[in-house]
Amino acid sequence: MSMRVLVTRDELPGSGVERLAAVAEPVLWRGDGAPGPGELAALAAGADAVLALGGDPVDAALLDAAGPSLRVVALASMGYDNVDRAAAAERGVVLTHTPGVLAETTADLAFALILAARRRLGPAGASLAGGGWDVFRMHDYLGLDVHGATLGLIGYGQIGRAVARRAQGFGMRVLHHDPYSTSGDAVSTATDLDTLLARADIVSLHVPLTDATRHLVSTRELALMKPTATLISTARGGVVDEDALLRAVREGRLHSAGLDVHEREPMGAEPSPLAAEEAVVTLPHIGSATHATRAAMVDLAVDNILDVLAGLPARTAVPGTSAVPATPRIPRAGAH
Ligand code: DGY
Repeated sequence: MSMRVLVTRDELPGSGVERLAAVAEPVLWRGDGAPGPGELAALAAGADAVLALGGDPVDAALLDAAGPSLRVVALASMGYDNVDRAAAAERGVVLTHTPGVLAETTADLAFALILAARRRLGPAGASLAGGGWDVFRMHDYLGLDVHGATLGLIGYGQIGRAVARRAQGFGMRVLHHDPYSTSGDAVSTATDLDTLLARADIVSLHVPLTDATRHLVSTRELALMKPTATLISTARGGVVDEDALLRAVREGRLHSAGLDVHEREPMGAEPSPLAAEEAVVTLPHIGSATHATRAAMVDLAVDNILDVLAGLPARTAVPGTSAVPATPRIPRAGAH
Protein backbone atom coordinates (compact mmCIF):
# COMPACT_ATOMS: atom_id res chain seq x y z
CA MET A 1 0.00 0.00 0.00
CA SER A 2 1.44 3.36 -0.94
CA MET A 3 1.83 6.17 1.54
CA ARG A 4 -0.94 8.76 1.79
CA VAL A 5 -0.34 12.42 2.44
CA LEU A 6 -3.28 14.69 3.20
CA VAL A 7 -2.63 18.09 1.59
CA THR A 8 -5.05 20.71 2.89
CA ARG A 9 -5.17 22.83 -0.31
CA ASP A 10 -5.29 21.79 -3.95
CA GLU A 11 -3.22 24.67 -5.30
CA LEU A 12 0.05 25.26 -3.52
CA PRO A 13 2.91 27.31 -4.97
CA GLY A 14 6.06 25.66 -6.30
CA SER A 15 6.71 22.05 -7.16
CA GLY A 16 6.65 20.57 -3.65
CA VAL A 17 3.42 18.65 -4.11
CA GLU A 18 4.76 17.12 -7.36
CA ARG A 19 7.76 15.85 -5.40
CA LEU A 20 5.40 14.33 -2.86
CA ALA A 21 3.36 12.70 -5.59
CA ALA A 22 6.48 10.91 -6.84
CA VAL A 23 6.62 8.84 -3.64
CA ALA A 24 3.16 9.02 -2.07
CA GLU A 25 -0.49 9.45 -2.91
CA PRO A 26 -1.44 13.06 -2.19
CA VAL A 27 -5.03 13.34 -0.97
CA LEU A 28 -6.00 16.92 -1.71
CA TRP A 29 -8.74 18.96 -0.12
CA ARG A 30 -10.34 20.62 -3.11
CA GLY A 31 -12.35 23.73 -2.72
CA ASP A 32 -12.34 27.47 -2.77
CA GLY A 33 -10.97 29.09 0.38
CA ALA A 34 -10.37 26.97 3.45
CA PRO A 35 -11.77 23.59 4.54
CA GLY A 36 -14.70 23.78 6.96
CA PRO A 37 -14.81 21.99 10.31
CA GLY A 38 -14.65 18.24 9.85
CA GLU A 39 -13.78 18.39 6.14
CA LEU A 40 -10.11 17.56 6.71
CA ALA A 41 -10.94 14.78 9.16
CA ALA A 42 -13.14 13.21 6.49
CA LEU A 43 -10.10 12.96 4.17
CA ALA A 44 -7.50 12.05 6.77
CA ALA A 45 -8.19 8.33 7.31
CA GLY A 46 -5.00 6.29 6.93
CA ALA A 47 -2.76 9.29 6.20
CA ASP A 48 0.96 8.87 6.89
CA ALA A 49 1.49 12.62 6.79
CA VAL A 50 -0.43 15.89 6.65
CA LEU A 51 0.74 19.01 4.81
CA ALA A 52 -1.22 21.91 6.32
CA LEU A 53 -1.25 25.70 6.37
CA GLY A 54 -0.68 27.71 9.54
CA GLY A 55 -4.35 28.62 9.85
CA ASP A 56 -5.62 25.04 9.58
CA PRO A 57 -6.82 23.64 12.90
CA VAL A 58 -4.54 20.70 13.64
CA ASP A 59 -6.24 19.19 16.68
CA ALA A 60 -6.83 15.85 18.37
CA ALA A 61 -9.86 15.17 16.15
CA LEU A 62 -7.79 15.50 12.97
CA LEU A 63 -4.92 13.41 14.36
CA ASP A 64 -7.34 10.69 15.47
CA ALA A 65 -9.11 10.75 12.11
CA ALA A 66 -5.78 9.99 10.46
CA GLY A 67 -5.18 7.14 12.88
CA PRO A 68 -2.02 5.25 13.89
CA SER A 69 -0.43 5.52 10.43
CA LEU A 70 0.17 9.25 11.00
CA ARG A 71 3.85 10.15 11.54
CA VAL A 72 4.16 13.83 10.72
CA VAL A 73 2.17 17.03 10.33
CA ALA A 74 4.18 19.56 8.33
CA LEU A 75 3.02 23.16 8.38
CA ALA A 76 3.84 25.43 5.45
CA SER A 77 4.04 28.20 8.04
CA MET A 78 6.43 29.58 10.60
CA GLY A 79 3.66 30.09 13.16
CA TYR A 80 2.24 27.03 14.88
CA ASP A 81 -0.27 28.57 17.26
CA ASN A 82 -3.20 26.67 15.66
CA VAL A 83 -1.65 23.29 16.40
CA ASP A 84 -2.47 21.21 19.45
CA ARG A 85 1.12 20.35 20.34
CA ALA A 86 0.16 18.27 23.37
CA ALA A 87 -2.21 16.14 21.28
CA ALA A 88 0.54 15.54 18.70
CA ALA A 89 3.08 14.65 21.39
CA GLU A 90 0.65 12.22 23.05
CA ARG A 91 0.21 10.45 19.72
CA GLY A 92 3.93 10.49 18.89
CA VAL A 93 3.36 12.60 15.78
CA VAL A 94 6.13 14.94 14.60
CA LEU A 95 5.18 18.58 14.02
CA THR A 96 7.24 20.74 11.71
CA HIS A 97 7.14 24.39 10.62
CA THR A 98 9.09 26.61 8.22
CA PRO A 99 11.56 28.90 10.00
CA GLY A 100 14.30 30.57 8.02
CA VAL A 101 12.79 30.62 4.57
CA LEU A 102 10.40 33.51 5.21
CA ALA A 103 12.42 35.78 7.51
CA GLU A 104 13.76 38.18 4.87
CA THR A 105 10.45 38.46 3.05
CA THR A 106 8.55 39.15 6.26
CA ALA A 107 11.17 41.70 7.29
CA ASP A 108 10.63 43.46 3.96
CA LEU A 109 6.94 43.72 4.74
CA ALA A 110 7.58 44.98 8.28
CA PHE A 111 9.66 47.75 6.73
CA ALA A 112 6.94 48.49 4.19
CA LEU A 113 4.49 48.93 7.08
CA ILE A 114 6.94 51.18 8.93
CA LEU A 115 7.31 53.44 5.90
CA ALA A 116 3.59 53.43 5.07
CA ALA A 117 2.50 54.23 8.61
CA ARG A 118 5.13 56.90 9.38
CA ARG A 119 4.74 58.67 6.02
CA ARG A 120 0.95 58.22 5.92
CA LEU A 121 1.03 56.64 2.48
CA GLY A 122 -2.53 55.27 2.77
CA PRO A 123 -4.37 58.58 3.27
CA ALA A 124 -2.04 60.39 0.82
CA GLY A 125 -2.67 57.86 -1.95
CA ALA A 126 -6.40 57.78 -1.22
CA SER A 127 -6.54 61.59 -1.44
CA LEU A 128 -5.00 61.55 -4.93
CA ALA A 129 -7.24 58.69 -6.09
CA GLY A 130 -10.30 60.49 -4.72
CA GLY A 131 -9.52 63.71 -6.65
CA GLY A 132 -8.46 65.57 -3.51
CA TRP A 133 -4.95 66.60 -4.67
CA ASP A 134 -5.81 70.08 -5.87
CA VAL A 135 -2.69 72.09 -5.05
CA PHE A 136 0.72 71.67 -3.42
CA ARG A 137 0.60 72.82 0.17
CA MET A 138 3.55 72.75 2.55
CA HIS A 139 1.47 71.31 5.36
CA ASP A 140 -0.35 68.56 3.46
CA TYR A 141 0.40 64.88 3.89
CA LEU A 142 3.01 65.42 6.59
CA GLY A 143 4.43 62.35 8.27
CA LEU A 144 7.33 61.46 10.53
CA ASP A 145 10.85 60.53 9.48
CA VAL A 146 11.94 56.93 9.46
CA HIS A 147 15.65 57.65 8.91
CA GLY A 148 17.40 58.44 12.16
CA ALA A 149 14.49 57.18 14.30
CA THR A 150 14.83 54.65 17.12
CA LEU A 151 13.47 51.20 16.32
CA GLY A 152 12.43 48.90 19.16
CA LEU A 153 12.15 45.22 18.30
CA ILE A 154 10.16 43.00 20.64
CA GLY A 155 11.53 39.58 19.72
CA TYR A 156 15.00 39.29 18.26
CA GLY A 157 14.89 36.05 16.34
CA GLN A 158 15.36 35.58 12.60
CA ILE A 159 12.75 38.13 11.52
CA GLY A 160 13.60 40.72 14.17
CA ARG A 161 17.28 40.54 13.19
CA ALA A 162 16.41 40.89 9.51
CA VAL A 163 14.42 44.05 10.31
CA ALA A 164 17.35 45.37 12.36
CA ARG A 165 19.70 44.91 9.38
CA ARG A 166 17.36 46.94 7.18
CA ALA A 167 17.19 49.66 9.84
CA GLN A 168 20.95 50.14 9.57
CA GLY A 169 20.49 51.39 6.03
CA PHE A 170 18.11 54.03 7.38
CA GLY A 171 20.61 55.19 10.01
CA MET A 172 18.31 54.06 12.81
CA ARG A 173 19.23 53.27 16.38
CA VAL A 174 17.99 49.77 17.21
CA LEU A 175 16.92 48.37 20.59
CA HIS A 176 15.58 44.92 21.24
CA HIS A 177 13.85 43.05 24.01
CA ASP A 178 13.96 39.27 23.94
CA PRO A 179 14.28 36.91 26.92
CA TYR A 180 16.33 34.59 24.68
CA SER A 181 18.70 37.33 23.53
CA THR A 182 19.72 39.42 26.49
CA SER A 183 22.95 40.81 25.12
CA GLY A 184 23.43 43.32 22.37
CA ASP A 185 25.31 42.92 19.11
CA ALA A 186 26.79 45.18 16.45
CA VAL A 187 23.33 46.14 15.23
CA SER A 188 21.10 46.33 18.31
CA THR A 189 21.19 47.07 22.04
CA ALA A 190 19.32 44.75 24.40
CA THR A 191 17.02 46.39 26.91
CA ASP A 192 14.05 45.72 29.14
CA LEU A 193 10.55 45.97 27.73
CA ASP A 194 9.49 49.20 29.42
CA THR A 195 12.65 51.07 28.42
CA LEU A 196 12.18 49.93 24.83
CA LEU A 197 8.55 51.07 24.79
CA ALA A 198 9.44 54.46 26.24
CA ARG A 199 12.41 55.13 23.94
CA ALA A 200 11.39 53.71 20.59
CA ASP A 201 9.84 55.79 17.83
CA ILE A 202 8.79 52.59 16.12
CA VAL A 203 7.98 49.39 18.01
CA SER A 204 7.90 46.26 15.85
CA LEU A 205 6.68 42.88 17.13
CA HIS A 206 8.46 39.63 16.25
CA VAL A 207 7.33 37.09 18.85
CA PRO A 208 5.23 33.95 18.42
CA LEU A 209 1.75 33.86 19.95
CA THR A 210 1.91 31.90 23.21
CA ASP A 211 0.20 32.19 26.58
CA ALA A 212 3.08 34.47 27.62
CA THR A 213 2.77 36.82 24.64
CA ARG A 214 -1.03 37.08 24.34
CA HIS A 215 -1.88 40.79 24.67
CA LEU A 216 1.77 41.56 25.34
CA VAL A 217 0.95 45.03 24.02
CA SER A 218 -2.12 46.31 25.84
CA THR A 219 -3.25 49.48 27.64
CA ARG A 220 -0.22 49.71 29.96
CA GLU A 221 2.33 49.17 27.19
CA LEU A 222 0.63 51.59 24.81
CA ALA A 223 0.61 54.22 27.56
CA LEU A 224 4.39 53.84 27.88
CA MET A 225 4.92 54.56 24.17
CA LYS A 226 5.51 58.08 22.87
CA PRO A 227 2.46 59.81 21.35
CA THR A 228 4.60 60.16 18.22
CA ALA A 229 5.34 56.43 18.07
CA THR A 230 4.25 53.77 15.60
CA LEU A 231 3.35 50.18 16.45
CA ILE A 232 4.04 47.52 13.81
CA SER A 233 3.01 43.88 13.91
CA THR A 234 3.86 41.12 11.48
CA ALA A 235 3.78 38.56 14.32
CA ARG A 236 0.34 37.23 15.32
CA GLY A 237 -2.89 39.11 15.96
CA GLY A 238 -3.32 38.04 19.56
CA VAL A 239 -0.05 39.68 20.60
CA VAL A 240 -1.72 43.11 20.43
CA ASP A 241 -4.86 43.95 22.40
CA GLU A 242 -6.75 45.52 19.49
CA ASP A 243 -9.40 47.22 21.68
CA ALA A 244 -6.66 48.98 23.61
CA LEU A 245 -4.89 49.93 20.36
CA LEU A 246 -8.09 51.33 18.87
CA ARG A 247 -8.62 53.50 21.95
CA ALA A 248 -5.03 54.76 21.85
CA VAL A 249 -5.29 55.65 18.16
CA ARG A 250 -8.68 57.34 18.48
CA GLU A 251 -7.55 59.35 21.49
CA GLY A 252 -4.41 60.50 19.66
CA ARG A 253 -2.09 58.73 22.09
CA LEU A 254 -0.20 57.01 19.28
CA HIS A 255 0.90 58.40 15.91
CA SER A 256 0.18 55.30 13.87
CA ALA A 257 0.14 51.55 13.53
CA GLY A 258 0.83 49.02 10.80
CA LEU A 259 -0.77 45.61 11.20
CA ASP A 260 -0.39 42.61 8.92
CA VAL A 261 -1.91 40.26 11.50
CA HIS A 262 -5.15 40.54 13.42
CA GLU A 263 -7.06 39.04 16.31
CA ARG A 264 -9.77 37.88 13.90
CA GLU A 265 -8.58 36.39 10.60
CA PRO A 266 -9.88 36.41 7.95
CA MET A 267 -12.27 39.35 8.37
CA GLY A 268 -14.58 38.87 5.40
CA ALA A 269 -17.19 41.60 4.96
CA GLU A 270 -16.68 42.92 8.48
CA PRO A 271 -13.20 44.40 8.70
CA SER A 272 -11.86 45.31 12.11
CA PRO A 273 -12.60 48.93 13.16
CA LEU A 274 -8.84 49.54 13.03
CA ALA A 275 -9.00 49.18 9.24
CA ALA A 276 -11.11 52.32 9.03
CA GLU A 277 -8.64 54.44 11.01
CA GLU A 278 -6.52 56.81 8.89
CA ALA A 279 -3.55 56.33 11.19
CA VAL A 280 -3.58 52.56 10.82
CA VAL A 281 -2.31 50.55 7.86
CA THR A 282 -3.96 47.12 7.77
CA LEU A 283 -3.01 44.24 5.49
CA PRO A 284 -4.50 40.75 5.06
CA HIS A 285 -1.63 38.68 6.58
CA ILE A 286 0.74 38.88 3.60
CA GLY A 287 4.08 38.90 5.42
CA SER A 288 5.44 35.89 3.54
CA ALA A 289 3.42 36.43 0.37
CA THR A 290 5.95 36.44 -2.46
CA HIS A 291 6.06 33.78 -5.17
CA ALA A 292 9.52 32.58 -4.16
CA THR A 293 8.94 32.51 -0.41
CA ARG A 294 5.58 30.76 -0.48
CA ALA A 295 7.10 28.09 -2.78
CA ALA A 296 10.07 27.74 -0.40
CA MET A 297 7.69 27.25 2.53
CA VAL A 298 5.86 24.43 0.75
CA ASP A 299 9.19 22.93 -0.29
CA LEU A 300 10.48 22.85 3.27
CA ALA A 301 7.23 21.30 4.50
CA VAL A 302 7.57 18.61 1.83
CA ASP A 303 11.22 18.00 2.75
CA ASN A 304 10.14 17.48 6.36
CA ILE A 305 7.50 14.94 5.30
CA LEU A 306 9.85 13.04 3.01
CA ASP A 307 12.56 12.90 5.68
CA VAL A 308 10.29 11.64 8.44
CA LEU A 309 8.65 9.05 6.17
CA ALA A 310 12.13 7.89 5.14
CA GLY A 311 13.06 7.33 8.80
CA LEU A 312 15.16 10.50 9.18
CA PRO A 313 14.66 13.24 11.80
CA ALA A 314 12.58 16.19 10.62
CA ARG A 315 14.64 19.19 9.48
CA THR A 316 12.62 21.85 11.27
CA ALA A 317 10.52 20.39 14.06
CA VAL A 318 8.43 22.89 16.02
CA PRO A 319 10.54 24.11 18.98
CA GLY A 320 10.22 21.94 22.04
CA THR A 321 8.86 18.94 20.10
CA SER A 322 10.47 15.71 18.90
CA ALA A 323 11.97 15.51 15.40
CA VAL A 324 11.26 11.76 15.22
CA PRO A 325 7.92 10.00 15.54
CA ALA A 326 7.24 7.64 18.44
CA THR A 327 7.02 4.79 15.94
CA PRO A 328 9.22 5.33 12.90
CA ARG A 329 7.78 4.30 9.56
CA ILE A 330 9.82 1.57 7.91
CA PRO A 331 11.53 3.30 4.99
CA ARG A 332 10.56 1.78 1.71
CA ALA A 333 12.40 1.81 -1.59
CA GLY A 334 11.87 5.09 -3.38
CA ALA A 335 10.56 6.85 -0.26
CA HIS A 336 13.20 9.53 -0.55
C1 DGY B 1 3.71 32.16 9.02
O1 DGY B 1 4.43 31.46 8.34
O2 DGY B 1 3.59 32.01 10.24
C2 DGY B 1 2.92 33.19 8.31
O3 DGY B 1 2.28 34.03 9.21
C3 DGY B 1 1.92 32.55 7.39
O4 DGY B 1 1.11 31.66 8.13
